[in-house]
Amino acid sequence: MFEDLLRRWDGEHVVVRHDEATGAWMFVCIHSTRLGPAMGGTRLKSYDEPPQALEDGLRLAAGMTRKLAVLGLPCGGGKAVLAVPAVPDGDERRRLLERYGDLVESLGGSFVTGPDMNTREADMDVVGSRTPHVFCRSVGNGGSGDPSVHTALGVFHGIRATLAHAFGTDDPAGRTVLVQGTGSVGAKLARLLLDAGAVVLVSDVDEERARATGADPVAPDTALELECDVYAPCALGATLNADSIRRLRCRIVAGGANNQLATPADGERLRAAGILYAPDYVINGGGALHGIGLERLGWDAGRLEREVAGIGDTLSGIYRQAEAAGITTSEAAERLAAERLAQS
Ligand code: PHE
Repeated sequence: MFEDLLRRWDGEHVVVRHDEATGAWMFVCIHSTRLGPAMGGTRLKSYDEPPQALEDGLRLAAGMTRKLAVLGLPCGGGKAVLAVPAVPDGDERRRLLERYGDLVESLGGSFVTGPDMNTREADMDVVGSRTPHVFCRSVGNGGSGDPSVHTALGVFHGIRATLAHAFGTDDPAGRTVLVQGTGSVGAKLARLLLDAGAVVLVSDVDEERARATGADPVAPDTALELECDVYAPCALGATLNADSIRRLRCRIVAGGANNQLATPADGERLRAAGILYAPDYVINGGGALHGIGLERLGWDAGRLEREVAGIGDTLSGIYRQAEAAGITTSEAAERLAAERLAQS
């Protein structure tokens, strides 16, 4: 139910629009503007029921507030979900995104969006035909282009820092990494790991797409149970729950997906299982650094590279803090975000 979800949420507000032409629900979730205008991607997805889409948006928006605070950016957190009966193509997709662009424009810059699951550069160009409050349009259209190269690079730096903490050396060579989901981030991450000499296993519901990475495809339904050093979730969220954590045979969970823990208790479950967890919104911040850094903060390519590499240092600090305080890594990340928010 919408009511319960909103009552329990600690964010600012949600703007809702039902799009009659397509039957889509648009939810723009503004979680926090404490540090600046709310920023976050637009997810295009079909859900069984509209409240599930709202719930996804509310959680993702809260994650953006923490992500941007941990990154030290002067931005608040938000997220938009376009819950469609089926993911549209062609003219229908364009018109839906135009109407969505009008909605973003009506918010006057208090929400600035970018790509997320199922939305890419070309979609941001369409949204950008109606509002300037959009990141990651194509370069030809004045944007910074596809951010996924920097999301993947940030995850790669994060994996190295996590290896260093778990094993005393950050070298991925010879380590086995399972990359789950070979979309724009997962495929690029697999490539970086292969180039660094890791043994890379990939799983995807689309086996062809997994194979195209050049890594070894494994069956998606049993992938989680494979013995590996690092499990890198790069597809849907909430893959870490009581059941899946029992089946894991890895030392590290470090991947690009948002909302990896089904519930906060799963952070404790991972710790109890002896698995070092890289908090999702810390390790996957490279895409936000790309869009916001290049388009809003005037960074050049060198500065962006340094900031993305800094994700590894931030994670190392979180691991040390978690150990010193005897808390989970997700709690340590939350404390860091809370400190930044309190300083404002
Ligand atoms: N949607 C991505 C994320 O979850 C990236 C992104 C965010 C891109 C904000 C631009 C602006 O971080």
